[in-house]
Amino acid sequence: MIWTVCRGENASKCSAAPNNRFDCAPEKVLNKKECEARGCCYIPVDDSLGSGPPACFFPPDYPNYKMTDFTETKYGCTGTLTRTKHTFMPNDLMKLHMDVLFETEYRLRIIIKDTTEKRYEVPIETPKINQKADPVQYDVQFTSESFGFRVSRKCNGNVLVDTNAAPIIFADQFIQMSTSLPSSYIYGLGEHLTSINLDLNWKKLTFWNRDLIPREDANLYGSHPVYLGFDKDGSAYGVFLLNSNAMDVILQPAPALTWRTIGGIVDMYIFLGPDPKTVIKQYQEVIGFPFLPPYWAFGFHLCRWGYNSSAMTREAVEKTRAAGIPLEVQWNDIDYMDAYRDFTYDHERFGDFPEMVKEFHKKDMKYVLIMEPAIGNSSPPGSYPPYEEGLQKGIYVTNETGQPLVGKVWPGYTVFVDFTNPEAHKWWHDMFKAFHEKVPFDGAWIDMNEPANNVHGSLDGCPDNSLENPPYVPDVVGKVLRDTTICASSFQNISSHYNLHNMYGLFEAIATHNALVKIRNKRPFVISRSNFPTLGRYAGHWTGDVESTWEQLYYTIPAIILCNMYGIPLVGADLCGFVGDASEELCIRWSQVGAFYPFMRNHNTKDAKSQEPYAFSKHAVDAIRKATLARYMLLPFMYTLFYKAHTSGETVVRALFMEFPQDQNTWTVDRQFMWGEALLITPVVEQGKTAVTGYFPAGMWYSPIGVSYNFK
Ligand code: NOJ
Repeated sequence: MIWTVCRGENASKCSAAPNNRFDCAPEKVLNKKECEARGCCYIPVDDSLGSGPPACFFPPDYPNYKMTDFTETKYGCTGTLTRTKHTFMPNDLMKLHMDVLFETEYRLRIIIKDTTEKRYEVPIETPKINQKADPVQYDVQFTSESFGFRVSRKCNGNVLVDTNAAPIIFADQFIQMSTSLPSSYIYGLGEHLTSINLDLNWKKLTFWNRDLIPREDANLYGSHPVYLGFDKDGSAYGVFLLNSNAMDVILQPAPALTWRTIGGIVDMYIFLGPDPKTVIKQYQEVIGFPFLPPYWAFGFHLCRWGYNSSAMTREAVEKTRAAGIPLEVQWNDIDYMDAYRDFTYDHERFGDFPEMVKEFHKKDMKYVLIMEPAIGNSSPPGSYPPYEEGLQKGIYVTNETGQPLVGKVWPGYTVFVDFTNPEAHKWWHDMFKAFHEKVPFDGAWIDMNEPANNVHGSLDGCPDNSLENPPYVPDVVGKVLRDTTICASSFQNISSHYNLHNMYGLFEAIATHNALVKIRNKRPFVISRSNFPTLGRYAGHWTGDVESTWEQLYYTIPAIILCNMYGIPLVGADLCGFVGDASEELCIRWSQVGAFYPFMRNHNTKDAKSQEPYAFSKHAVDAIRKATLARYMLLPFMYTLFYKAHTSGETVVRALFMEFPQDQNTWTVDRQFMWGEALLITPVVEQGKTAVTGYFPAGMWYSPIGVSYNFK
């Protein structure tokens, strides 16, 4: 009899359909006994699937916060959240404060944090309000007994976010909040190698900026905890979690989404849209509109790792010009440096470096060079002033003994500039200025700024502490936070690297942008590999070390669309791919797609075959020239789009669904893309194809004369 009752209770308590189960053992695998000891439900799953519903999941009555003291305020409302039972996560907070801010008619913000101790908050300036907006387009409902909030559209009741899906966990180093999704169409949550609409089949997206050849299911160079979705009636909305800590986002077919971050606070923005372009604009009103690059930024750029001398660099320029390719900007990679150290150049191989750059200028070209955030620290005393001055100014990331943390990058042993220190900005500017006086470069390429490190953590490893070994480690490549970067517990001026890691490149981009403006007194040009929300205000981005494969060529399209959504319109992928040899056919196709990237640069790794346009047959050169000239013909249009992005948060490249949201067929299109509202690009991204099938939403479409090109 008792058995029957228990079974009955359990059956109803644990009856959630597999897709509606939320993981109650995120940090380790538990057996039935251990799971039930947590107060959770256990139903064995087929492990061979790799990913799928969790075996141990929350029952509906799992102890959660309770909301009290609900009060209306000048800005919206507040409440206190208390829990009486601890969760399974160490140092969970028993009392929290919630602030709900009705920021604008279409933007709601919900902040949940500690009541007593100040926790780390993302050091980005966001708009402040003086009073709550009225009227507003949203409704927020709170469940007080087992706390949750539900945000819906006032006009039709459509629910956009509903955290009642699972209990909230808020511990010192683990915050988890789940929400049901109104539809399975969501976009964003980069930087990952994904299609445009995200796969909700138990996918985990990890945020921890990292140097890695892009591949699926891996954390890459940037972190953008923001998504855009369609609700059940096809109206668009957006959600942004302003949090820079290492994070996992779990997507499941319910459809539902779980945020799982290991620090900071809950600072969530909800944008009501109601159409995709408006959602993006509303998001960019929070993070800031992108900078306006100089016009020359939109021309054709040529680079490669391996232009080992000024002679080789000149040769590339001459051959490109002779091939009739309009070369706007020539670049050099780390090859120009003396022993790979910033602010130096090799006086043998690049003896006439300044003259070379001046010559390019005379040809009406611009010149961009690479800079590294890792500074060589082992030059003989007195021989490398940049390092010594930085040391004296105390601008490097430090370790537990208070000494600069030492890692290993191109110059050998290196220290890492702490760009959260205002002194570092002054130093960076001064170094740039002195170098610019010698070599009058026009723009900066900031690379390896996740930051990348060839040893894990530091030469001495990392201390054994809670920042290095948090109770929950997001699913980062390498399994530990220090993998190919610096120690999470190292010290930066405004907080620990644990909190700031994902923003390392952003702070470097700010320093670089400001230095260039001051030195050149012109619009700056900066391209950064590491990226985080607000990067677009200071720099553009390229999609890193992509492989020269057809698959990666396709993936660049969703990547470029998404970066535009993140407010980084100046974005491109290395034409013809970076890693590996590009075939002539691939390079033609890539150049044709790349002619429509906002940032068009052919860049190649050191040991791959040459892939400059002139490295291929006449037929290939003709095709690449034709595509490039088509771009040049359209540049005024693109420039206008950049102006609109800069002044009102529009996108330059956009997905079809952003222009035709009412046409559901467009919601998954990511082999085509648009420039603004008028130009639809339908490229060939498959080997051996000379024709392509595209989707043309209803409307009048014209084929621009001279742009279409048939590859035979
Ligand atoms: C890594 C960058 O992603 C790549 O573009 C560059 O060529 C190498 N670093 C060498 O600087």
